[in-house]
Amino acid sequence: MTTAIQDTPALNSLTHLECSLCNKKFEAGKIHNLCDCGGPLLVRYDLERTRRTWNRDQVKRGPNSMWRYAPVLPVTRQTSIISLGEGMTPLLPARRLGKRAGADDLWIKDEGLNPTGSFKARGLSCAVSMAVELGIRKLAIPSAGNAASAMAAYAAAAGIPAHIFMPSDVPQANFIECKAYGAQVTLVDGLISDCAKIVAAGQKTEGWFDVTTLKEPYRIEGKKTMGYELAEQMDWQLPDVIFYPTGGGVGIIGMWKAFHEMEALGWIGKKRPKMIAVQVEGCQPIVRAFEKGEQRSQFWDDAHTVASGLRVPKPLGDFLILDAVRSSGGTAIAVSDAELIDAGIQLATDEGIFVAPEGAACVSALQKLLERGFLRRHEKIVIYNTGAGLKYLEAYSSRFPRTAAGEQDKLGGLITPR
Ligand SMILES: Cc1ncc(COP(=O)(O)O)c(C=O)c1O
Ligand SMILES: [Zn+2]
Repeated sequence: MTTAIQDTPALNSLTHLECSLCNKKFEAGKIHNLCDCGGPLLVRYDLERTRRTWNRDQVKRGPNSMWRYAPVLPVTRQTSIISLGEGMTPLLPARRLGKRAGADDLWIKDEGLNPTGSFKARGLSCAVSMAVELGIRKLAIPSAGNAASAMAAYAAAAGIPAHIFMPSDVPQANFIECKAYGAQVTLVDGLISDCAKIVAAGQKTEGWFDVTTLKEPYRIEGKKTMGYELAEQMDWQLPDVIFYPTGGGVGIIGMWKAFHEMEALGWIGKKRPKMIAVQVEGCQPIVRAFEKGEQRSQFWDDAHTVASGLRVPKPLGDFLILDAVRSSGGTAIAVSDAELIDAGIQLATDEGIFVAPEGAACVSALQKLLERGFLRRHEKIVIYNTGAGLKYLEAYSSRFPRTAAGEQDKLGGLITPR
């Protein structure tokens, strides 16, 4: 297997961008954010043409990263690609946990092994590569934490300055990473929605390009590779059920797009997995909208949770998430912080996989949906763990208090002799 990006087939058949709300078309190769109507733009390709020049078997000969899917990614020049080895994360069987929960065919797609320890690497690799291609020189992002780390890393790799706005209580790992990557970091006393307002204002005054998820059209393209990769790893048979921890929901929207594209390429059939959007009790706008049968979500007041990536009070692409969940026959479900930490520790103990609280939320949701009979034990179930547990030591440390230093001294001072 090769890792050389140069080995990918000659790039894509990108045709245009299209508003996901009003279907207005936008020219490729130009700088875009949202449509005038406020709708996020989606990238469109001539998949009939791609189908004639690229097939499933060629994928395996591509690089060992998400760039093996370059023909369905928006970058048109090899030299624009900024890669740190994102994607091709392992799909791991979870037999012990499955037995405990009553699921015979349970898998974990472990996105914690990406550069910067989360799936955000996929979206930011694509977005920063497009920034290079389009000649953008100043990037700014509001982030719940992990997108900031990924943007800081890829901007550093591209040599582009990054301006980062995160809630002041983001996990320490995100703050330190961004600083180490040389980004300009501002901690904001508020939520990601407050950070987004600052970035939007700086677009005009500072000349920043706004990399807010879905306002920037290419992050979703990187994230959709989670769907392509899963299909490839399952030998082009999609599972029955996918659990996805949903904040902005871009992973769900991206995978849903990938499934449609793969069908158009003739790689998979019509069958779709039930998409399960997992949220937390302290911030569950999608669950609420799903239960009420609404197309859009309401702003969730006083959003709070240890799963910082799920603290998104009003996802911009709510209507796209809800459409994917509903048309797949899936559901939306919230779990408590205490339940998700318990589930994360259970998974680590059973399988040796230490997941982010966001991934842990899915484990807890799985248990609930099996108990309720919404899912059955023979179904093939994939849980997306979107980040590494190691990035969330504050969240887990409440369960593992260490002996105070004074107490350790009394034990003989073996580690720190006086
Ligand atoms: C670890 C983790 N999981 C899930 C999410 C939510 O991602 P999405 O926007 O795809 O819903 C985030 C977002 O910050 C995250 O950091
Ligand atoms: Zn529009």
